[in-house]
Amino acid sequence: MTPLRVLGLAVASVLGASAMAQSHFPAPPTPAGNPVTTPKALLGMALFWEEQMSSTNSVACGTCHQFSHGGVDPRAINQRHPGPDGIPNTADDILGARGVPVRDASGHYSGSTTFGLDPQVTRRKAPTVINAGYQPALFYDGRVANGEFRDPVTNQVVLTGPVALENLVAAPPINSTEMAHTGRTWTEVTNKIATARPLALASNIPTRLANFIGGATTYNQLFEQVYGVGATATPTRIIMAVATYLRTLNSDQSAFDQSIAGQGTLSAEAQRGMTVFNSRHGSAAACSQCHGDISNASHQFGPTPLQTTMYGQLPVPNSHNTGIRPIADDNGVGGITTNQTDMGRFRTPGLRNTSLHGTWFHTGGLTTMAQVVDFYDRGGDFHTNQATEIQPRNLTAQQKSDLVAFLDALTDPRVAAGQAPFDSPRLGSLNNAAPTRSGIGMTGTAGRTPQAVAHEPVVIGGQSATIAVQNVPANAPTFVVWDTVAVTQGYTYAGLQLYVGLYDVAVTYAGTATPSTGGAGFASFPFGVPSLRSLIGTNLYAQWLVFDQGAPLGVTTSDLNHIVVR
Ligand code: HEC
Ligand code: HEC
Repeated sequence: MTPLRVLGLAVASVLGASAMAQSHFPAPPTPAGNPVTTPKALLGMALFWEEQMSSTNSVACGTCHQFSHGGVDPRAINQRHPGPDGIPNTADDILGARGVPVRDASGHYSGSTTFGLDPQVTRRKAPTVINAGYQPALFYDGRVANGEFRDPVTNQVVLTGPVALENLVAAPPINSTEMAHTGRTWTEVTNKIATARPLALASNIPTRLANFIGGATTYNQLFEQVYGVGATATPTRIIMAVATYLRTLNSDQSAFDQSIAGQGTLSAEAQRGMTVFNSRHGSAAACSQCHGDISNASHQFGPTPLQTTMYGQLPVPNSHNTGIRPIADDNGVGGITTNQTDMGRFRTPGLRNTSLHGTWFHTGGLTTMAQVVDFYDRGGDFHTNQATEIQPRNLTAQQKSDLVAFLDALTDPRVAAGQAPFDSPRLGSLNNAAPTRSGIGMTGTAGRTPQAVAHEPVVIGGQSATIAVQNVPANAPTFVVWDTVAVTQGYTYAGLQLYVGLYDVAVTYAGTATPSTGGAGFASFPFGVPSLRSLIGTNLYAQWLVFDQGAPLGVTTSDLNHIVVR
């Protein structure tokens, strides 16, 4: 058996044999030191959907890469980075992905000039993880590549070859916008994961994953299952498992795939749209010249239908400046190579499942497929350093709608329906795992009403979660009043608007408020819950009490946080 066949079989056992039957893709390139096996892919799947991978228990890889949206972030439409001008709701805003608030290792919030205590939004949209295993270079600027993979702690080379995925997986858990507190190390990531209860925050865990997790109460037990008796979580093992899972996310069963495999025919519209996709229009290049490549040759010499399999294997560099934004907004590849000709170039994405994305391009700035087609039809928007292949096309209305029909025919029904290998747990963030807020605070100095802030689910075990308060006077002393019962409709006690029950009450001092802007401030309070399973499901209520000399009573209170220990 050739190595490729062996690999194919390993993938087949992950996907289930029937899923492989129609596949016409070879398995993605895999480094010899990290072969695809079913248990390792399942461990990687658990870790990919694990919100405890973040410092805040609130962000998993899958939070920003959801299959319902083709492996990108469905929330992007509502999440703005203000862009280079720093001003929200202007043309240069980026519809990005929401990560974590700025937080230090102790769990205290630092406050961000752009996002305050809110989770930060990435400067680019999340591209898809589906078929990422075929890409020889990753990220929009291709800055993560094959070659060597080094253990992020020891810096020893542990793998060589097609290791772009391993190199990529190493980044988000220590990225202080996406998943990490400032300065987080892989040792910290690993220590947290080792003892975490697998998928403690998620629900609707797919059967194949639930069976793999079985009765395991810590990730270390799962690492033993995969890497042998006595094995524990290590940075390299975590990374290799997640990369292995990503190598099983291969989408090749769209209507287009069926048609080129002789297993179906495209609709008449999609068929016509494919012709539009594969044709030049005036001096504008065929879409497939950039998007259809599976070889250098097709990129140089244009497409044929079989070359438009669009599963990656893109020639390097297949990056172009489409003219979506002025180059000064984001240099793209030019930001890495510093070559003037690369300014504003971005990697050409594969187009499978693109119809599911909901927002398009690295800016997320186009929000319907019709807008994408119109963008190309008018030859892009910004022309400095723009690819010469992008020119006005003068497509007819019919050609445009046919093109959209063809792009729709690139959607794999398994991705759209969340079927294996594109099945996934439901994230805690979608199930209100984070504390919820209710009630209203009391207004004090300068009309300021303290607002409770609660992004972080509270999980049993040593790791801390943080609650915070904002919109209080700078430098004001702050306290948290805790109880296990609450009066959610509120009541007045000694002139204070209260919601905590004053039943099991405890008060903790949370320090003086850090100044933010205009005399306002914020405070945060990291706390942990012991590793006692009996605590799971415990209700905790917290309300902030703020010393505010300008308030009638000299004290104000915030709204209420309701925390359910998970
Ligand atoms: C806060 C949102 C967020 C989280 C969490 C996140 N990502 Fe991403 N991901 C992004 C963004 C944004 C990019 C693109 C960045 C760029 O191009 O500069 C990206 C890029 C990628 C890519 C590259 C795809 C390509 O074609 O270039 C892969 C693969 C990926 N992420 C996997 C992961 C994995 C695995 C994790 C968890 C360890 C993860 N991501 C966590 C937002 C996120
Ligand atoms: C010169 C090369 C080139 C040509 C020609 C081209 N594209 Fe693109 N396309 C790109 C690049 C590069 C990107 C990524 C740009 C970015 O994100 O800023 C892209 C992005 C896209 C996206 C967004 C994908 C996503 O999920 O965000 C779609 C859809 C798309 N192109 C469709 C088309 C269609 C349809 C045509 C023909 C009308 C076409 N492209 C022609 C290079 C090209």
